[in-house]
Amino acid sequence: MTTLQLVRTVADLRAALETPRRKGRLIGLVPTMGALHEGHVSLIDVASKRSDLVVMSLFLNPAQFAEGEDLDSYPRDEGRDLAIASEAGVNLVFAPPVEEVYPPGFSTHVEVEGLTDVLCGEKSRRGAEHFRGVTTVIAKLLNMAGPDFVFFGQKDAQQAIVVRRMARDLDFAAEVVVVPTVREPDGLALSSRNAYLEPDERERASALNRALTAAGVAQGNGVDGALGAAQAVLTEAGIEPEYLEARYADDLEPAKSFNGRPVLVAVAARVGRARLIDNVVLNPGDSADL
Ligand code: PAJ
Repeated sequence: MTTLQLVRTVADLRAALETPRRKGRLIGLVPTMGALHEGHVSLIDVASKRSDLVVMSLFLNPAQFAEGEDLDSYPRDEGRDLAIASEAGVNLVFAPPVEEVYPPGFSTHVEVEGLTDVLCGEKSRRGAEHFRGVTTVIAKLLNMAGPDFVFFGQKDAQQAIVVRRMARDLDFAAEVVVVPTVREPDGLALSSRNAYLEPDERERASALNRALTAAGVAQGNGVDGALGAAQAVLTEAGIEPEYLEARYADDLEPAKSFNGRPVLVAVAARVGRARLIDNVVLNPGDSADL
């Protein structure tokens, strides 16, 4: 357990990082919206290995929630989050109030085109606005903290891919590091939104990961064969996916085959009140990293 410092303003965050930065300490940033679980802890673990000082942001970002989404019901418990962060080895938590991030008159946004029009970003899902909220807040956090590394979970693969493109296009110095998905014993990817699942839904939800596993097993049958195998598992579990697609992991263009480039097989589905997402990378290069 480390001593954890809590700051709520950009000025205090910068002041806290001034000395470590001058001493050449490597700073790792782990952006979160709270409701921490083992998935977040694994990002903190990797951040602790790569950096001398781990900063975690705790900010439920209203800009990435659409009207009618679960912003109001999103689980909030700062005391619990701080205890988990401290136990996991976070040195500094940045937990600003909304006005610190979005002062009156706030009117600048960061938008990554193309990559945000597909999967979770498709127009009917109003997801491009969601990603605009994510990239805007991440751009701000990177400018606020100036980290050497910023850590994202593969669980939200499209988010990681979009942020990596933003960092490249806008010349952010931070290296974007993607950390493998942490799962329950039955394969369900950990998510703050799993808390919305009723017991029978919780059981059915494991079909998402089983479907992705089936796609991997069937990849010898090509993209259509793999997606067909995955769809069969979902159908069996009574789950109608919002999408189930295979796309190249670098540019999110539709994958034509598994020969060569890493392919992201991604699924989203509503199970009860929860909207769940999961993915696997098939055909990875040297590492399964995105
Ligand atoms: P949040 O949902 O709190 O997730 C914070 C980070 O934890 C993200 O990078 C996410 O991919 C990662 N994560 C979530 N579940 C995981 C799991 N089961 N295994 C590994 N990593 C997991 O994603 C956000 O917040 C926000 O969009 C944010 C990036 C903080 C911007 O507001």
